[in-house]
Amino acid sequence: MFLLLSFTWIIAGITAEIPPAMHYRVKNSSICLHIKSSGYQKEEWLFEKELIVLSKNITPMYKDKVYYNPENSSLCITKLNETDSGTYSFSFINSVLKRQTETHKLIVEDISCSDNTKPASGGAAKLCAESLFLYFQSSLV
Ligand SMILES: *[C@@H]1O[C@H](CO)[C@@H](O)[C@H](O)[C@H]1NC(C)=O
Ligand SMILES: *[C@@H]1O[C@H](CO)[C@@H](O)[C@H](O)[C@H]1NC(C)=O
Ligand SMILES: *[C@@H]1O[C@H](CO)[C@@H](O)[C@H](O)[C@H]1NC(C)=O
Repeated sequence: MFLLLSFTWIIAGITAEIPPAMHYRVKNSSICLHIKSSGYQKEEWLFEKELIVLSKNITPMYKDKVYYNPENSSLCITKLNETDSGTYSFSFINSVLKRQTETHKLIVEDISCSDNTKPASGGAAKLCAESLFLYFQSSLV
């Protein structure tokens, strides 16, 4: 009985809300956030409560910080800093006229992995971010 109950809770939890996608990046690198949904309208991108994209336009504060593709709504954030860590949400009206969101959680860390004498940059930073991601995954097991 208990097992059955907890099983239903798990299912309910999954269907009620899609968990945010987690991303780990090193400082100064960049990231592109992609959208899974289709057939949406009136979309906006937000960082916490701040608007990044409204009516397919990048808001002035983010002009030099992000690239946005109005065709597929992908948002790329450049020159990542610790202060860019947080929740990015894509909010839209879906095909049955309900407001829906897709969320991404980003964690930016100032690390230099594998080689402590040189700060990670470019391709090394990418590798670094990936190993950090794998490290987080393995720490969950
Ligand atoms: C990030 O980039 C800036 C400017 O290019 C540089 O001054 C800084 O040292 C870099 N920081 C890291 C952690 O690589
Ligand atoms: C959206 O378009 C951009 C530019 O063409 C591309 O780089 C990106 O991969 C696309 N995103 C998806 C999810 O296909
Ligand atoms: C980058 O993050 C550091 C530490 O959180 C902060 O002091 C600095 O102001 C940030 N730089 C920018 C350009 O936001």
